[in-house]
Amino acid sequence: MEISAVKLIYFSPTQTSKTILEAIAGGMGIGAVSHIDLTPPDAATRDFGELTDEPAVIGVPVYGGRVPVDAKERLKRLKADKTPAVLVVLYGNRAFEDALLELKNLALEAGFIPVAGAAFIGEHSFSSAGMPIAEGRPDADDMAKAGDFGKAVIEKIRGLKQINDVPALQVPGDDPHRERNKPADISPSTDEDVCVLCGTCASVCPTEAVTVDEIVTTKGLECILCCACVKNCPTGARVMNAPPIMKIAEWLSTNFKERKEPDIFI
Ligand SMILES: Cc1cc2nc3c(=O)[nH]c(=O)nc-3n(C[C@H](O)[C@H](O)[C@H](O)COP(=O)(O)O)c2cc1C
Ligand code: SF4
Ligand code: SF4
Repeated sequence: MEISAVKLIYFSPTQTSKTILEAIAGGMGIGAVSHIDLTPPDAATRDFGELTDEPAVIGVPVYGGRVPVDAKERLKRLKADKTPAVLVVLYGNRAFEDALLELKNLALEAGFIPVAGAAFIGEHSFSSAGMPIAEGRPDADDMAKAGDFGKAVIEKIRGLKQINDVPALQVPGDDPHRERNKPADISPSTDEDVCVLCGTCASVCPTEAVTVDEIVTTKGLECILCCACVKNCPTGARVMNAPPIMKIAEWLSTNFKERKEPDIFI
């Protein structure tokens, strides 16, 4: 199969999934790279048209061993027609459990044909200076591995006479998938003494949970705990200091120090 363009499709509040997808596309060596960013709230209603010939690289983070609910709902709105897809999950050095299998099932439902899969490691959304969890990842080594994966994928696709020749992709995970964590009324808080009301937290929030007016308010039940607002706040006013999350962050930081490496399925 001849390939002259590739589409990157991602839900990536803290950008690690997007970063790895770009490194994979770099390794594929294809000049024409376009993006469908499923992270902003308007992706819940935007019309994506039909995705046909060019292969897609689809990336999402792992939340509780699953594809995040908002990513799943937005992915369900894509329509493909036997379009080759490379499936990628990013996890915070604990485990990816059923997320890659769930992503594969979602891709099949949307009309994609999975040709390869991978699980890469990204800095955990709950990582902080005091409680680092996979801090700084993906790093140069991860980016090089993503590039090599992209090269292997493009060789595989180019070696196919037609897309129907691809054998069914095998990835780990259980189906039915593990239960999701229950939504809770928890969100980051804002230190009003430090906040300059710039609005960045509201603009990066994937679920429109944040409003910036005379103060910053957050609808806890709409917050998916992605920490995009925390990582993008220019003054450090926005912090994830809710006790249940601090407890989880401490557990992760203590018990998942050992570096995990990417898993490739091709
Ligand atoms: C609510 C939530 C749940 C998470 N669950 C997991 C998990 O089950 N396993 C894991 O290793 N990392 C987990 N993470 C960490 C993310 O998968 C990781 O930080 C990922 O790189 C974020 O991707 P992004 O930068 O594209 O948003 C979780 C993060 C959040 C916010
Ligand atoms: S991004 Fe930070 S400084 Fe800007 S409004 Fe939000 S909390 Fe305040
Ligand atoms: S308010 Fe919640 S959902 Fe919105 S960016 Fe912050 S952590 Fe993410």
